[in-house]
Amino acid sequence: MTRHDSTLSPLAELASNVAQPFERARAMPKSVYTSEEFLAAEIENVFKQDWFCVTRADALPNPGDYTTLELAGQPIMVIRDREGQLRAQSNVCLHRMSTLLEGSGNTRAIVCPYHAWTYNLDGRLRGAPAMTLNEAFCKDGQALPQVRCEEWLGWVMITLNPDAPPVSETLAGVADLVGDYEMENYQQTFFETHRWDTNWKVLAENFMESYHLPVCHAGTIGGLSKLEEMVCPPGEEAFNYHWILKEPDFVLGNAHPTNTRLSGERRRTTFLLAIYPSLLITLTPGYFWYLSLHPHGVGQVEIRFGGGMAPEFVNDPEAQSHFNALKALLDDVNVEDRGCTEKVYNGLCSDMATPGHLSHLERPNYDFAQYLNARVNGG
Ligand code: FES
Ligand SMILES: [Fe+2]
Repeated sequence: MTRHDSTLSPLAELASNVAQPFERARAMPKSVYTSEEFLAAEIENVFKQDWFCVTRADALPNPGDYTTLELAGQPIMVIRDREGQLRAQSNVCLHRMSTLLEGSGNTRAIVCPYHAWTYNLDGRLRGAPAMTLNEAFCKDGQALPQVRCEEWLGWVMITLNPDAPPVSETLAGVADLVGDYEMENYQQTFFETHRWDTNWKVLAENFMESYHLPVCHAGTIGGLSKLEEMVCPPGEEAFNYHWILKEPDFVLGNAHPTNTRLSGERRRTTFLLAIYPSLLITLTPGYFWYLSLHPHGVGQVEIRFGGGMAPEFVNDPEAQSHFNALKALLDDVNVEDRGCTEKVYNGLCSDMATPGHLSHLERPNYDFAQYLNARVNGG
């Protein structure tokens, strides 16, 4: 049986692909990106099972601050309640099942836009107009279904899986790797959502390898990226990573002089963390930015894009202007990544396309394929 055997299901094609050792590895089969069957398996076994990043906790500082999203087809709100607790809960009304909140914002109560059933921030039903004549109706004890929500190193993580181990346990290896950066104290200064015309995994894999930097990013950061300064160790079960050394003259990419947490080469080391399934973090001693991805069909990806600065830089007016320049640069880099990842999706839909061999700089991509296979094939 070969990998070109079109009688194999997409799940079996992936199983056959990941059976190769890294030294002989190829990119994942096309059907993994293009088939509805594979997407359905991902929704069930990945997005309904694993932890998903919504935003940073400091983006929702006050009671009533909320944001909304869909995870694996489920409308969810994340809201800070009166007690200051972040909660994730169903964003669907208990009356005729309208969705409740939209986008992000602040509210004193959750009021359904259809008939104004009203909920406390903690999801308890507080009022329902003109319902007294229904003898079976009683608002007491009714509440929006709750979803697991945890804060971890400043990230707001949710899962639909009641049995998922806590984030801090699943990602203990990340804390071991970059605990001295104290990412929990970094402050978010921007957050945006985007939708691109590519499969979510094409964008995730693009993030995982810096092999493309010199070429895809020739117009921006390509010249600063040296392939020989990239280190790509084998990944762990729940994440993969690689790191790059930043030039000493790139102010924000280096530790601030008052940063005493980092020493030696770590003062200019950028970590690229790919936390499965879809939280992709660039962590430097001075700033961070991230993508949290969710599929929108096979051919589009929903992108939650945010970033900010390490605490030493936050109150420095000069750092803010450096950061503004950096954000403009990130936007230009994103335009290049969008071009590359949309071209890849377009290309891999071709009948004549075949997945080629991977470079040693694509080790994280190989590890990602192993993770995905374990999830969808229960390996
Ligand atoms: S559907 Fe929400 S109040 Fe009717
Ligand atoms: Fe890129």
